Amino acid sequence: MKTPSVIFYVGKGGTGKSTVSAITAMALAKEGNKTMLASLDAAHNLSDIFQTRLVHKPKQVAPNLLAAEIDRERMIQAFLKETRDSIKQTYSYLTAFNLDSYFNILKFSPGLEEYALVKAFTQLLEKYPDLDYLILDMPPTALSLKFFTLPALSRTWIEQLENLRNEINKKKEIVATVRYGKKEHGRDKILNRIKAMKEYYINLEAIFRNPDTTISMVANNDTLSMSETERTIRDLKSSNIHIKSVVWNRVDTPKGLPGFNLPGKAAPLCVPASKTPLTGTDALNTFINSWDVDVVTLVQKVVQP
Ligand SMILES: Nc1ncnc2c1ncn2[C@@H]1O[C@H](COP(=O)(O)OP(=O)(O)OP(=O)(O)O)[C@@H](O)[C@H]1O
Ligand SMILES: [Mg+2]
Repeated sequence: MKTPSVIFYVGKGGTGKSTVSAITAMALAKEGNKTMLASLDAAHNLSDIFQTRLVHKPKQVAPNLLAAEIDRERMIQAFLKETRDSIKQTYSYLTAFNLDSYFNILKFSPGLEEYALVKAFTQLLEKYPDLDYLILDMPPTALSLKFFTLPALSRTWIEQLENLRNEINKKKEIVATVRYGKKEHGRDKILNRIKAMKEYYINLEAIFRNPDTTISMVANNDTLSMSETERTIRDLKSSNIHIKSVVWNRVDTPKGLPGFNLPGKAAPLCVPASKTPLTGTDALNTFINSWDVDVVTLVQKVVQP
């Protein structure tokens, strides 16, 4: 099955993630690629950049280009509802307890935000499989790191649950053999649910590590932005997730800038500072056209392994 190539733009606040996302998305769409640009940042900028009101549901902003601003609160509610329904189905005996009161507290639980964002990302992939490119304007670095490491962490945790459940089943089987005869593991709704969750996170890990997926850092030529870029590359590497490229925004030449030991051999992409505001599709197009980098080179420099 065809899946879109995914490009994530990560970086320190204000480095130009939203602007670089919009430039890349416009450039790809102009080349005839079916493209979607979605903001996962709570402080959305895309409505301002495209000068149109964007909402959770993707809307067309230019030929071949859909854009959306993901509603986190809505995703958190959807995630909680899905979890509650699943618990109710799996543990039917729990209806004796008031599950809703647990969920009223759970909505303030730490970590929910990244679960909601991961859910939003997978939903876009499921709902729009015909896209050529899905571009994500990511939240500030700390939350983005949690987003990328969530699948591996969750899988490790779920594997422990799976072991525990298998242990319980082994013990139950001994009793069951005596009292009711042998019971098949496949009938264990809880184990089935654990396995489905494990598969979901394994698939996500595969997407983050897929050669067609690009995680790109947007950086500026200043000390704080550079050291945050370096730290992010290192932190994600330790989770076996690799940043493919650095886009130097508001920079004319990569001369003297750090290479960060990235896998690509191509020179890093530099996006010059625009003299006019980069808002509205006309301004974005004029900027892209005025620049001596053609679209194919632009995208290759971002996505090249
Ligand atoms: N290449 C550029 N030339 C001129 N102005 C730029 C350029 N890139 C970004 N800007 C401007 O710099 C400001 C910050 O850019 P942008 O909003 O894209 O950053 P961001 O990383 O998305 O910020 P945030 O972390 O707040 O979401 C904006 O006013 C934007 O218009
Ligand atoms: Mg932004």
